[in-house]
Amino acid sequence: MQIFNKIMPLKSFLLEKRTAGISIGLVPTMGALHKGHLSLIKKSLASCDLTVVSIFVNPTQFNKEEDFNNYPVTLEADKALLIKEGIDILFMPDAKEMYPDRSKIKLHFGQLDTVLEGKFRLGHFSGVGLIVSKLFNIVSPDKAFFGQKDLQQVAVIKKLNSELTFGIDIITVPTVRDADGLALSSRNKRLTTDQRKLAPILYQILTETKSSLISGEDIQIVMKHARDKIAENNPEIELEYLEDISKHQEISLCIAAYFNEIRLIDNLFLFSR
Ligand code: PAF
Repeated sequence: MQIFNKIMPLKSFLLEKRTAGISIGLVPTMGALHKGHLSLIKKSLASCDLTVVSIFVNPTQFNKEEDFNNYPVTLEADKALLIKEGIDILFMPDAKEMYPDRSKIKLHFGQLDTVLEGKFRLGHFSGVGLIVSKLFNIVSPDKAFFGQKDLQQVAVIKKLNSELTFGIDIITVPTVRDADGLALSSRNKRLTTDQRKLAPILYQILTETKSSLISGEDIQIVMKHARDKIAENNPEIELEYLEDISKHQEISLCIAAYFNEIRLIDNLFLFSR
């Protein structure tokens, strides 16, 4: 595995490969890699000649400094995992390389900024859009891989890709779960043993709500019941939102909750209209 910390050497290396007709897959990450990341990586390895994984904890997408400072970093384990998977290139820039000057650009995604993550993490998608645009420009991949756990992020990136005419094939990879249903996330590493035991409640709520809705129960009543269930039985969990969102013909249920200061999200595809 070749490691690049600087943009220009990576760009010229990839230009040579591209000119030789080699297809490039990009898996952008913030590190603290887990099986969810591995599923993205495996998809890229299977469908592209060369896979670039990036690890960069992007400061501009955090709306709370404390969340940024506490984001798990497991660089040595990440590198070992990537070598084992047979990754070609690891791009691991520092903040100065990615943001030589304080960034002034703000991106807006219309309706997407006003709901769910956009509503509760002000400026988050602007930061995601900025860093993903930079990575797209640097790597210029044929395909880029993102996890469905961050459903709204995928929508934002697809918008970015089409509006800024990157022309990249954006591949959404299904959420990977632990045996008890908890969606894999780097943030799970920060949960205490007790919080970890409680955390699958998010997936339980999603699956229960889904089956009630599919069996024809009233959506307002079902959602209220689910919200009350969390509030009544789990004082240590603070539900931020449980909402249904529709895009084109598809409807998904999305949830976000705090376990003390650790914020977890999840979603479940409901059905097509
Ligand atoms: O999903 C993530 O890990 C991040 O939001 C991403 C896409 C790597 C951008 O920093």
